[in-house]
Amino acid sequence: MTPQEVARFRAETRGTQHVLHFNNAGSSLTPDCVHDAVVGHLEREREIGGYEAKAEASAAIDSFYAEAAGLIGAAPDEIAYVENATRAWDMAFYSLPLGAGDVILTAAAEYSSNYLAYLQIAKRKGVVVRIVPDDASGQTDVAALRRMIDGRTRLISITHIPTHGGLVNPPAEIGQVARAHGIPYLLDACQSVGQLQVDVRAIGCDMLSATGRKFLRGPRGTGFLYVKRDLANRMDPVFVDLHSADWTADDAYELAPAARRFENWECYYAGKLGLAEAMRYARSIGMDRIEARVLALGAVLRRQLAACPGMTLTDTGEMRCGIVTFVAAGRAAAEVHARLRQQAINVSVSSGERARFDLLRRGYRDVVRASLHYYNTEDEILRFCTAIRSLNRD
Ligand SMILES: Cc1ncc(COP(=O)(O)O)c(C=O)c1O
Repeated sequence: MTPQEVARFRAETRGTQHVLHFNNAGSSLTPDCVHDAVVGHLEREREIGGYEAKAEASAAIDSFYAEAAGLIGAAPDEIAYVENATRAWDMAFYSLPLGAGDVILTAAAEYSSNYLAYLQIAKRKGVVVRIVPDDASGQTDVAALRRMIDGRTRLISITHIPTHGGLVNPPAEIGQVARAHGIPYLLDACQSVGQLQVDVRAIGCDMLSATGRKFLRGPRGTGFLYVKRDLANRMDPVFVDLHSADWTADDAYELAPAARRFENWECYYAGKLGLAEAMRYARSIGMDRIEARVLALGAVLRRQLAACPGMTLTDTGEMRCGIVTFVAAGRAAAEVHARLRQQAINVSVSSGERARFDLLRRGYRDVVRASLHYYNTEDEILRFCTAIRSLNRD
């Protein structure tokens, strides 16, 4: 990516004039075209009515499916629009026919909401949850995963990139194990879609959840679910409504084909349009180029933070992404966050209690999370590290 291109992406992102935004794992700054798509649709809703605005924009709204499918190497009918990654993941997870004694294999760095869902299903149905240990680098140990599979394993469910660190789990290696044993594989790709190249066929996952507002730079309150067509057509969705099913006789209904059965009737159309625009924008830049720049910027920030007195980096894994986590000696993460915010520098805090098998086990109550995107710059990294060093002066 040339400096001229980065300058253009920044010129197309109004927020870059106001903040140093290293909170892309929370919610990215949206490009102006995404903002305009959302606001433009809301204006039409105000002017002609919500249903009428939807009819008028139906081609652009429906382009959402082709954009999402193109982004992750799926087919459009394998995509469901869902309001966020958690509900997308839930729609897949809670629709799986798990019963007493069935085993779910997951990873130590699993997203906390997913783990809460495992606990709920364990309590309700007697499903057993087992955590695959990490290898020496801190990523999911694929050999251990292979050894843990037995006749009761019904699901492999892994978070690609955790919310609380730079780790990138090896999704395709895990996919090979899942394929070899014919076990359904659910991938939480909330932090990776929009940051890294993600191809569901290459990964070999059966279900994948993603969100709009993070690295995809879409609107808040948007997300999507991918479910492989033949699996989707065999699944009984946890909820049905008049969008996901047809009422075909007094006592009968027919489920909508493929991923549509995981959607619901009412949705945030301005957001769907905005997310389609965000994905178009990302694809026009190229996910390979976005990935290369994000990884490179992440490495620069890690290197420079490591040279700042009192800072300890907390990321693990063989491959590390644009999420950079650290602790500052003698200061709570919340204090670092607040001090940076006073200087219009945005980061966030990840809590150990929400990463019990990872951060807490490693002795961290919380960490500062700085997460970079391709529109961030080396200059911003320098300014960021200057601000971090200045914490030590008072
Ligand atoms: C790894 C991971 N999975 C899932 C989610 C949930 O995404 P959403 O807030 O869109 O439901 C997050 C949010 O931080 C996340 O980091």
